[in-house]
Amino acid sequence: MDTVDSLLERIVDIVGADNVLLGEELSNHFAHIWQTHIPLRATAVVLPTCVEQVSPILTLCNQHEMSVVVHGGRTNMVGSTETDGSELVISMERLNRILEIDSDSKTVTVEAGVILENLHRAVQEVGLMFPITYGAKGSAQVGGMIATNAGGLRVFRYGMTRQWVLGLEAVLADGTVISSMKKLVKDNSGPDLKQLFIGSEGTLGVVTSAVLRLCRPPANQQTAFVALEDYPAVLRFLKFMEQELGSALTAFEIIWKDTYRNMCGMLKGGGIPLAFDYPLYVLLETSGDASSCGAGRLEDLLEKCLLRGDVLDAVVAGSETQQALFWRIREDVDHIVSQCTHDQHFDVSLPVADIGAYVDRVTAALDRVLEVDKYFVYGHMADGNMHLVVSKTVGSEELKERVNHIVYTPLREYGGSISAEHGIGLHKKPYLGYCRNPEEMQLMCTLKNALDPKGILNPGKIL
Ligand code: MLT
Ligand code: ZN
Repeated sequence: MDTVDSLLERIVDIVGADNVLLGEELSNHFAHIWQTHIPLRATAVVLPTCVEQVSPILTLCNQHEMSVVVHGGRTNMVGSTETDGSELVISMERLNRILEIDSDSKTVTVEAGVILENLHRAVQEVGLMFPITYGAKGSAQVGGMIATNAGGLRVFRYGMTRQWVLGLEAVLADGTVISSMKKLVKDNSGPDLKQLFIGSEGTLGVVTSAVLRLCRPPANQQTAFVALEDYPAVLRFLKFMEQELGSALTAFEIIWKDTYRNMCGMLKGGGIPLAFDYPLYVLLETSGDASSCGAGRLEDLLEKCLLRGDVLDAVVAGSETQQALFWRIREDVDHIVSQCTHDQHFDVSLPVADIGAYVDRVTAALDRVLEVDKYFVYGHMADGNMHLVVSKTVGSEELKERVNHIVYTPLREYGGSISAEHGIGLHKKPYLGYCRNPEEMQLMCTLKNALDPKGILNPGKIL
């Protein structure tokens, strides 16, 4: 019996045959939920149900030098869950229990496979809120959210995932369980080891569970779509809203003209918030008590802006249903992706002041590329985070690199980053040097070699 067969046999002994997928079941597991036409290639897919199974699986894989790729919701944008066929995939979908909600300490203890939307609902039932949210919440899992330090739609007010992880349990490449499932906001007893696993895309350890911080939901929430003349007008509008609302301004999303029109396509004609002919759109949200954002407060502020000519048009959602609809227009990235071919997705970060000039420069360059048939521009403007989806008529590597250069090269000038929130994975790896210096990359290698000397965890990703 060759070593792979004997390894699989021992893994079956650990998790049971029902929790090991092979053949057609394996092929149908897919590396990404948008790529269900591409069968998954892997040695096997293993579905552990507890950390006591993950640990010995990793010990065995390390002994056999078997590469391991962890699958969560498989909604990542950078190829982090791609495989070449030789790896063992560990899918966390059966490690999906919400273990405890502690309403007094405002914490929730969860396993890595819990779907973000299920977590939102569970804590909402006890009057609490987990504020990290993004379009893929219905499929994204907590483990993936932590491994990628996900951001999303309310980072401006609430920060990234990192800020909401109090305790973490992760398994190292050799099977050692590093568990610190504390509910502490403050713990300066040495370096904060959990940070090694947050945002390292499964290259330093496998996240199995976490203690997440919760907060009290705001009493009032208002959502509006606003139309503006140009980027400087959007900047002035952001400044005004920040001055007036302070921390009650919880989201500020920008959408370019053609992208707005295309996003609204998901409404199939009904309920379009604002006409299509404005240059720029902002989707904003306010949250807080009655004094900061009770009924009428946002209307009053927007009316002031309209009267002064600072904004061209505005509409405040009149009900919770309409609020949800406004957000769906922005969140349903699948809708615009479905209009693309050979698409490339970008997630860049740069100073807020430079976004307008950057987008003008990049889109002018894309307009000159014959094979680029369309692109979509939108983003978490108040975080300095822009997304670009570029659709092409041809899938060549040369063209892909040309588009990468157009998008990434100006970032050096602005002191930007090639990844604001999606991570590096496989797709952005060649460009890591655009925003990380050689000393930083060397330190990343030192950490990787120390924690995973045989390089079995998500090999080839990031570095
Ligand atoms: C989002 O902001 O919707 C997500 O980061 C996904 C994306 O834009 O591609
Ligand atoms: Zn985003």
